[in-house]
Amino acid sequence: MATTRDARGNLCLGGVRLQTLADDPAIGTPTYVYDLSAIALEARELRESFEGAPHLVAFAVKANSAGPVVRVLAREGCGADVVSGSELALALACGISPDHVVYSGVAKTDDELDRAIFAGPRGIGAVQVESVEEIPRVDARAASAGRVARVAVRVNPGVDLAELGTHAYIATGHDEAKFGVALDDMSLALSALRAARHTELVGLGMHVGSQLTSITPYVDASRTLFRLTAEVRAEQGKRLAFVDTGGGFGIDYGEGACVRPGDFVRAVRALQRAAGLDDLALHVDPGRSLVAANGVLLARVVQSKVSRFQKGAAPLQWLLIDAGMNDLLRPALYRARHRVVPLGPDAGPPSNWRVVGPVCESSDDFGIHMLPDSPPAAIAILDAGAYGYTMASSYNGRALPAEVFIEGGRVVDRRARGSVESWILERTSGDSRATKRS
Ligand SMILES: Cc1ncc(COP(=O)(O)O)c(C=O)c1O
Repeated sequence: MATTRDARGNLCLGGVRLQTLADDPAIGTPTYVYDLSAIALEARELRESFEGAPHLVAFAVKANSAGPVVRVLAREGCGADVVSGSELALALACGISPDHVVYSGVAKTDDELDRAIFAGPRGIGAVQVESVEEIPRVDARAASAGRVARVAVRVNPGVDLAELGTHAYIATGHDEAKFGVALDDMSLALSALRAARHTELVGLGMHVGSQLTSITPYVDASRTLFRLTAEVRAEQGKRLAFVDTGGGFGIDYGEGACVRPGDFVRAVRALQRAAGLDDLALHVDPGRSLVAANGVLLARVVQSKVSRFQKGAAPLQWLLIDAGMNDLLRPALYRARHRVVPLGPDAGPPSNWRVVGPVCESSDDFGIHMLPDSPPAAIAILDAGAYGYTMASSYNGRALPAEVFIEGGRVVDRRARGSVESWILERTSGDSRATKRS
């Protein structure tokens, strides 16, 4: 949680009073607000935890693809972990060197592979293959481009799902997950790579899951990855450049203190040294931990509602807000809980409010929160800087939210909210009946 309260009790992010943004007719609600200075600081702190050892912090663009966010991380020396051709193009457009881009994904299309292979003078830093079958496909695309593609193998270390301690939908490094090459298939992958004359194996990587709040599963999986990497080096004499332990560093969504990203790095660096792999660059691919706490979603309370029940059950108080699952999907998708707080000073005695959005789905529900009994006019949903806007949709015909970027205590950039008119245009253009009518 990066928000603070000023002397009058108003909620602020990066030194800017959030009520002022919500009240500004050019901004309004629902709006995401991000603190770029705090994001830069987070990246700097993580990079310092490598203590000068060769490394790459490849920001997982899927967490937040806003240009100002990716640009500020590029300025801090971060690379990018991308999962689509569009994210790849965006990372390059934001100033990240192709050498510092790693591309994961189980079903990269030929067009997407071509984008990766043609980027810069040597293609991107690594196309991270996720199956044995992908290797000849990458080889064929590289051959037709007359290039040699740098390739890493994403290993699925087969961590026990329960040990990961995270929601099943964001656990990726277990036997049932579609991601990565299973440990038992690694010898097949290495044979396929030997036959693939237009690829060069430059690294081994993994990403076991997201929102990890304990170091243990990450360290256990890294041990497996390092053992495998040492074996590949010994058997193949391959000149590997890096080993990539992935992202997944959790943040504190309000449940209590959380392990810092630097703690994960320090723990795996010790293992890396013990495995004799100190000469390889260590890559990590964090998304959430760099941005989540440094973003909030502002919403206005449209109205309240009380459901009174017969048979003496306590009435239910609903707070109906103008942001919904179309703006912030995490609660509906993973039952994620975000703290909800008033923008103004805490006023009067608190009571339990069930905060829900306008979308016509029961899962459009941000949970029960203690808020002033006399409902606030506007609220902030905290820790919304990751997997917020990037998962937003126009479901129910709702406009995509606005975005505001703060740096050095002032607003430096913003993106306007979508409009009803642009939604209608988008949904009806190319529709001959609508064209005839207009
Ligand atoms: C391949 C890959 N790398 C990195 C990440 C970033 O994870 P996180 O945001 O938890 O750090 C993800 C997220 O799921 C991912 O799929």
